[in-house]
Amino acid sequence: MKISNQELTLLKEQAQQVLTKAYAPYSKFRVGAAVLTNEGNIFTGCNVENSSYGLTICAERTAVASAIAHEGGDKMKLRAIVIVSDPEKPCAPCGACRQVLSEFGWEAMVFFQGKDHKIMELTVAELLPEAFEFTI
Ligand code: THU
Repeated sequence: MKISNQELTLLKEQAQQVLTKAYAPYSKFRVGAAVLTNEGNIFTGCNVENSSYGLTICAERTAVASAIAHEGGDKMKLRAIVIVSDPEKPCAPCGACRQVLSEFGWEAMVFFQGKDHKIMELTVAELLPEAFEFTI
């Protein structure tokens, strides 16, 4: 189902709000993310860095984790995610986050700022073609 302008505005507002909560003392690059689930709920997340740099968690993944904690991992499906950061810099979701998003919504819309201030609107499937899937 297409994301309405009203939903998009709400997602942007929430992502912008949670960005202020980011813990980014090392990179100083704050990121906020807001996901919209199939249930119609919005959950947010911010990046959480660590002095052991590799343990850093991106905003997208903390937002997904929050959605699962509230709706349950077996039910939660993503409809959309908005990612915001420094308006002067692009912030596309990293490869690890694309893989995590793919687990919960192939057709989910992903909104972020690309290069040259371009607002990008792509599905998870477009962002991660030929993704790994584990079938039992
Ligand atoms: N970061 C995110 O939160 N999301 C992304 O999609 C890209 C990168 C964070 C991780 C780290 O705290 C900072 O941005 C710089 O890499």
